[in-house]
Amino acid sequence: MKKMLFAGLLSLLSLCTRAQQQPPNNNDDYKDMLRQLHIDSTRRDPSGNPSAPDAANTDESKASPYTSLPDPLVLKNGKKVTDARTWWDRRRPEIVEDFDREIYGRVPKNTPKVRWEALSTIDTSYGAMKATLKRLAGHVDNSSYPDIKVDIQLSLVIPAGVQRRVPVIMEFGFVFPPGFRFPARPPGTPVEKSWQEQVLEQGWGFAILIPASYQPDNGAGLTQGIIGLCNKGQRRKPDDWGALRAWAWGASRAVDYFETDKDVDAKQLGIEGLSRYGKATVVTMAYEPRFAIAFVGSSGNGGVKIMRRRLGEQVENLASSGGYHWFAGNFIKYAGPLTANDLPVDAHELVALCAPRPVFISSGSPKVEGQWVDAKGMFLGGAYAAPVYALLGKKGYGTMEFPPMETALVDGDIAFRQHSGGHTTGPNWPTFIQWAKRYIK
Ligand code: GCU
Repeated sequence: MKKMLFAGLLSLLSLCTRAQQQPPNNNDDYKDMLRQLHIDSTRRDPSGNPSAPDAANTDESKASPYTSLPDPLVLKNGKKVTDARTWWDRRRPEIVEDFDREIYGRVPKNTPKVRWEALSTIDTSYGAMKATLKRLAGHVDNSSYPDIKVDIQLSLVIPAGVQRRVPVIMEFGFVFPPGFRFPARPPGTPVEKSWQEQVLEQGWGFAILIPASYQPDNGAGLTQGIIGLCNKGQRRKPDDWGALRAWAWGASRAVDYFETDKDVDAKQLGIEGLSRYGKATVVTMAYEPRFAIAFVGSSGNGGVKIMRRRLGEQVENLASSGGYHWFAGNFIKYAGPLTANDLPVDAHELVALCAPRPVFISSGSPKVEGQWVDAKGMFLGGAYAAPVYALLGKKGYGTMEFPPMETALVDGDIAFRQHSGGHTTGPNWPTFIQWAKRYIK
């Protein structure tokens, strides 16, 4: 119970950090996008407060069957995909195009080059594990528009004394506001080993990439960061990339760096993140084939949760002025006049874009984390991707039944586990690592 409370506190704290990350001054940009889309008004988004009169639905019996769910293995011309070749050459590009145009936005054809600089290297330790920490900066070439300067913040930690290249798991890291402190653990709370220590124990390294260093997390920031630099400080067009796709772009630039670092085995890279960064994690995995494995934490809607499900966070929430910057402007259309049922693709197809590579889907407990992330909706995002994995000779969960709490589905190449804590990937690390060891050596 104490542990749960602690996890709850952490969730609350992360809510506070969120508020700080989203200054309310993004309305001009949002209004400009509505104008470009010829939208006068959108539908109201349900409240995330479960006791509010307009609270988002939390009742599974009302999660309402969708009137449509796109089939990842049916081409736009109605023909069924029955071989891997047709998937790679025809169906996958169709799905990518829909996600690019309507949901996450298009990356500009020519993004600027990034020059990586090693800032410092120090000896350090995580619990009992000794390690070397390298701080790096990715300087983005801004010669096309010097008013905007972008530096990607990355740190890389390699276990000490290892004489070979090591696999690396990279996390999308939150930045906490100045003066921020985690609350003291309540007495008696069992101390979990940090995920960093657990990863180092495997002889693997880890990295922390700071997404906010190269793309701010709010609408006003869309004319800044890498998106603003590419647009020379101008506002986006409706199919331009949003923050999630920009954050994924930065993860790819980190891979470029890893390919040059003699301590890193760039064929064995993993990506992990929570919440908005869980969304960024699955987007990265879908678009960047050089990641070998993904650990997608409480990504909710806009991540691996089926967007059409009427439970927890809705498309209307994401497409509001507080969340639209994560997506292409076009996404707002699905909060009015269109609906989630009109989306040409859904989250299971984003998971399918990761195939045949392994994806671990992680959630907390509805009691502690709340139902905003929709654990079952995230489970289904994985479940409905299974036919694509099967076509490519891999395995899904092996069941369509939502498992009980703390029952891991880890037999296949798509894995799922709900831990009993809050809004964190923490308690799922041991299960993820055990499963990942089948792929990462
Ligand atoms: C909000 C938002 C979620 C998001 C989360 C976070 O809860 O509605 O979509 O994942 O913040 O990233 O912290």
